[in-house]
Amino acid sequence: MSTDHWPVTLTHGDVTLRPLRTSDSRRWQELRRANESWLTEWEATAPLPSQEPAPTFRQVARRMRKDARRGLCMPFVVEYKGEFVGQLNVNNIVYGALREANFGYWIDESVSDRGIMTTAAALVTDYLLGPMQLHRVEIAVRPENLPSNRLVQRLGFHFEGIRPRFLHINHDWRDHNIYSLLSENLTSTLVSQLRSK
Ligand SMILES: CC(C)(COP(=O)(O)OP(=O)(O)OC[C@H]1O[C@@H](n2cnc3c(N)ncnc32)[C@H](O)[C@@H]1OP(=O)(O)O)[C@@H](O)C(=O)NCCC(=O)NCCS
Repeated sequence: MSTDHWPVTLTHGDVTLRPLRTSDSRRWQELRRANESWLTEWEATAPLPSQEPAPTFRQVARRMRKDARRGLCMPFVVEYKGEFVGQLNVNNIVYGALREANFGYWIDESVSDRGIMTTAAALVTDYLLGPMQLHRVEIAVRPENLPSNRLVQRLGFHFEGIRPRFLHINHDWRDHNIYSLLSENLTSTLVSQLRSK
């Protein structure tokens, strides 16, 4: 387990990834309210019924920050021109003989389709396979999610196949396309290969 690489802030042009803070609560709730219908189809849901109330943003943020300090995840806010517009969470960082992580993301619909999340995903992948020396980065995308499939394909991730009923999304188990990028296949940084939109 490694904690040498967190906290970190990554920037390219107008796009910055910085650690999530508990004080992001108000902006996060504002964005989630405004984007409810845009995000529902792609949101992770709880597979098992629970009597517990859903955790608050602050509880989730505190837990993620604690796990991040232990090197298990990286909860990033995506900023565009200095404003919080989305999130990118690196999850399941595994060391040892695997050295792998995966990540998920969402963006405010009003600033979508400007290349922001492609840039954010490039920045974080460069960091995971570069300074952090992971071997494999994985992204799982529902086949129906055209923008997200385009995003990973455009970054040069390799399509490995379909994992049937892989994740519980929008209240059911959903098939996912599995994409990966290995460190030996990264010949130059992804950020240096980005074309402007
Ligand atoms: C997936 C998502 C994060 C992409 O963010 P973004 O900042 O808009 O992405 P980019 O602008 O970098 O675009 C990525 C690709 O998707 C395409 N795209 C973006 N919005 C699109 C839309 N509404 N319809 C069709 N294609 C779209 C872009 O044109 C681009 O493809 P290109 O390289 O061929 O031009 C965003 O659509 C989103 O938040 N969706 C809802 C949540 C979600 O799906 N999360 C991911 C789960 S795996």
